[in-house]
Amino acid sequence: MIAVGCDHGGFELKTAVLKHLYEKNIAYKDFGAYSSESVDYPVYAKKVADAVVSGECELGLLFCGTGIGISIAANKIKGVRAACCSDNFSVEMTRLHNNANILCLGGRVVSAEKGIELVDLFLSTPFSGDERHQRRIDLITALEENN
Ligand code: RB5
Repeated sequence: MIAVGCDHGGFELKTAVLKHLYEKNIAYKDFGAYSSESVDYPVYAKKVADAVVSGECELGLLFCGTGIGISIAANKIKGVRAACCSDNFSVEMTRLHNNANILCLGGRVVSAEKGIELVDLFLSTPFSGDERHQRRIDLITALEENN
């Protein structure tokens, strides 16, 4: 199950991605927002982050105008590794190296076509499992413990 959320700036891109997930038979849970009416992105970041951290959903997708605000908010939740990306290389690397569990995209940054391409890449790329990458992720987790 994929957790999905957005604010008004990401609503259009989220709608295009949801259509694509539906057509590909990929199960998702849409945590809103459900229209392009102005809302506060931290609210939706938290809903998706909680679903991922609790294990209810394996991965998350978040959308706002730039992808930045919603990624900053999601990364405040313990256990979240949210990456804001707009290119294929970064998306692939953030799964392989960072084991990112949420991808954040900007509806005012990438086209629907590009966004769908990035989502497909994110969902199909596994964590490498390499010891050095796991060690660095463990160090990130240790930073959370210090707070
Ligand atoms: C909303 O106008 C916009 O600030 C938001 O979608 C996002 O881009 C924030 O980072």
